[in-house]
Amino acid sequence: MKFFIDTANLAQIREANDLGILDGVTTNPSLMAKEGIKGTDNVMKHYKAICDIVDGDVSAEVISTDFAGMIREGEILASIDEKIVVKIPMIKDGIKAIKHLTLMGIKTNCTLVFSSGQAILAAKAGATYISPFVGRLDDISYDGIQLIAEIAQIYAVQGFQTQILAASIRNPIHIIKSAQFGAHVITSPLESILALLKHPLTDIGLEKFLADHKKSNS
Ligand code: G3P
Repeated sequence: MKFFIDTANLAQIREANDLGILDGVTTNPSLMAKEGIKGTDNVMKHYKAICDIVDGDVSAEVISTDFAGMIREGEILASIDEKIVVKIPMIKDGIKAIKHLTLMGIKTNCTLVFSSGQAILAAKAGATYISPFVGRLDDISYDGIQLIAEIAQIYAVQGFQTQILAASIRNPIHIIKSAQFGAHVITSPLESILALLKHPLTDIGLEKFLADHKKSNS
């Protein structure tokens, strides 16, 4: 399973990349706004800066909601760097845009996926990735991980090549369960990735090893 980081924060992207386990980055308009990135030129420069850090796919989201606008934006975003994956919302024109960009050889990530039906449509259109939002489903008392499992089963039975990118990850359990139930990729805040490191017995065990070493060497 690939690990993407879900942020537009360059320091956090560098920190995750330095761990040696980073396979890509996802962003969205909210994450770009959080970093204060405004205006087309700055947005383009920021995506380029992200591409220069990470050796992997970088999702950049369109803000148009009509077919022509999404295609226009998608082509511009894809021209920034070959690592760019154009992120397209799961709407009717979005499906058409995914099909069109796929035929042009541009990678796509279909975002805002909340059902298996949406996942089937995006795969039919040839999306490189689909992003089911695990955390936002959990927020409204649906089981986000169950959706990952269901889509993984459908894609396996049907032989779809689209990769399941578990998004809206909120905690390390989401990462573990996504891996268990067949996500090809998770995209997560740095905090949840680093939380995978933690176990109290690791800390206690290390402390004891170091204390014993000190005793026998003093
Ligand atoms: O990039 C899409 C996604 O990961 C959003 O996460 O936490 O805003 O639901 P969140």
